[in-house]
Amino acid sequence: MPRVRRLVLLAILLPAPLRAGLQSVLHPQGAQAARIADISWVMFSGGAIIFTLVILVLTLALYGSAKIRRRLGGRWIIIGAGIVFPVLVLTALLVYSLGVGAVAARSEARPVTRIEVVGEMWWWRLRYLDQDGHLLFETANDIRIPADVPVEFVLKSDNVVHSFWIPSLAGKLDMVPGHVNHLRVQAKGPGVYRGQCAEYCGAQHAKMMFDVKAVTMEDFQAWLTAQRLPAREPANETLRSGQQLFLKACMECHTVRGTAANGISGPDLTHVGSRSSLAAGILPNNIGALAGWIAGSQHIKPENHMPSFDQMTGAQLRALAQYMDSLK
Ligand code: CUA
Repeated sequence: MPRVRRLVLLAILLPAPLRAGLQSVLHPQGAQAARIADISWVMFSGGAIIFTLVILVLTLALYGSAKIRRRLGGRWIIIGAGIVFPVLVLTALLVYSLGVGAVAARSEARPVTRIEVVGEMWWWRLRYLDQDGHLLFETANDIRIPADVPVEFVLKSDNVVHSFWIPSLAGKLDMVPGHVNHLRVQAKGPGVYRGQCAEYCGAQHAKMMFDVKAVTMEDFQAWLTAQRLPAREPANETLRSGQQLFLKACMECHTVRGTAANGISGPDLTHVGSRSSLAAGILPNNIGALAGWIAGSQHIKPENHMPSFDQMTGAQLRALAQYMDSLK
């Protein structure tokens, strides 16, 4: 039995360092998250030192010699340790944390890219904007940013309150209906950073995740160009029948640019095959998972706005999933 327990413990602990880089406030990968981590460490260390001092004084008060105990009962300790000390410490911490924030606000450069993120139930609508704020294209859940330059997220919601949080890159910021919030992020080098919704927003709040992939400016520009293109034409008979099915069953809610499908209530699927995951970070993106999601979306993510299309034949489902997968 102890061996089983050891194995379970190992299984829990082993992946921790792997996960740490992906999504951790303790391993900041951007200037904004680093500032928060610094402030947290100062607060935590200060708190630990003061706690140790208090326990020390408490021990002396309980078990110290009569002389020490008499001294601890003096008026000076009540005024000094009870009033002056906390006022000094709290003032110093306040000045420090406000100072860090003020320096950060002054040093913020103009963002190189702006991405509007709209919290949906339960996925992320992404609208890439040009310098004048005009829409370049729409996509979902898979965020691509250039590394080492400032990026601005324009955060919105038209349903309930969500909270946009990429722990390794920045602090969380709410998406409030009727209000626009702005979040600056600068990733330290290329990498994949995981984000998630951090405000309870309904049944599938826990399944509202996303990846932020920071890439070089060159790769980012190439990605932007590819994403702006209309969807690929189906290259064979199976894909053509998949597209026909899509235009019958899915176009009411989804857009595939270059076809007649222009629904807007669900995610834009023009390049869905190029994304790293499905259904806001909960399924791998492959033909099997696509078919499973189409046939059983209410089973996988109950109460989401997409019905389960479980009346399709196996052949139809395969054709539709293959067509989706071909939209790279
Ligand atoms: Cu969206 Cu929680």
